[in-house]
Amino acid sequence: MSTVISTSTIDLQLLRSVQQLGTQIGHTPLHRITRLFNKPGVTVYAKKEWKQLSGSVKARAGYAIFKAAIENGSLTKQKALLDATSGNTGIAYATIGARLGVPVTLCLPENASPERKEILRSLDAEIIYTSRFEGTDGAQQVARALAMEQPEAYYYADQYRNDNNWKAHYHSTALEIFEALPGITHFVAGLGTSGTFTGTGRRLKELNPAIRLTSLQPDNPLHGLEGWKHMETAIVPTIYDSTLADDNLEVGTEEAWEMIKAAYHYEQLLLSPSAAANLVGALQVAEKLDHGVVVTILPDNADKYKDIIKKLL
Ligand SMILES: Cc1ncc(COP(=O)(O)O)c(C=O)c1O
Repeated sequence: MSTVISTSTIDLQLLRSVQQLGTQIGHTPLHRITRLFNKPGVTVYAKKEWKQLSGSVKARAGYAIFKAAIENGSLTKQKALLDATSGNTGIAYATIGARLGVPVTLCLPENASPERKEILRSLDAEIIYTSRFEGTDGAQQVARALAMEQPEAYYYADQYRNDNNWKAHYHSTALEIFEALPGITHFVAGLGTSGTFTGTGRRLKELNPAIRLTSLQPDNPLHGLEGWKHMETAIVPTIYDSTLADDNLEVGTEEAWEMIKAAYHYEQLLLSPSAAANLVGALQVAEKLDHGVVVTILPDNADKYKDIIKKLL
């Protein structure tokens, strides 16, 4: 059965505004690692995803989700975009919502960092705090229940199931990487909703089936790698494709913290825990190679993590 979209529900001015915002999403620079890793024949690059609107990789998924919902008439200024998030996706939604004049409601575990809460409040997002003991899984349950109770008030974005999440990376991140580095041999990235890994990896494999994909996960459920999921013990995102990765590696929180210090010292990169963990994984892959071009993602920098800045400076 085909879906008929009624143009009467689409706000054309809103549609134009969201399309214009697209110039501020993506097109992030690559950093070549030269001092932390130096081996003839093997190069490692990391994509600095904080260099875009809202300061993280989640600008891509947040924007794609907003745009698709406005294009198909499910989101107008009369509704609020609703989702569960512990951080960067919420900041992306709230930033985009503020620019477009669309309200944003976020279900957020109550133990989210004070900096995170402050940023979201300053962007005028409505925040519903959920149990600290249930993390983003609990926040998802609260958001889903609210959307079912009040479908006229909310557009439920559901980043864990929304195909526009991984498609954002399929249509942007992967192409940017392949255009800049057509000789890429390995792609390495951690899993949260899995949108970054799934979308980028799927497209890179289509462009060159020889490219090897390594997914990364925390080494235990009680980790400190904000944004990552321990798939074995978490609610597995519907968009996650466990057959895509050629290899899977685990990264410990301690290793990531060591990498935060090393990346600052040797590369002048001020990284978040998950960005440092991606670099740990990328260097492990690179060390085993004689020839290759390894690419990873740096989802955000340390701006929102005051603890890191205090320890480093
Ligand atoms: C800091 C950080 N790193 C990594 C990720 C994981 O990205 P994805 O959800 O695309 O798997 C996220 C997602 O929110 C994040 O905020």
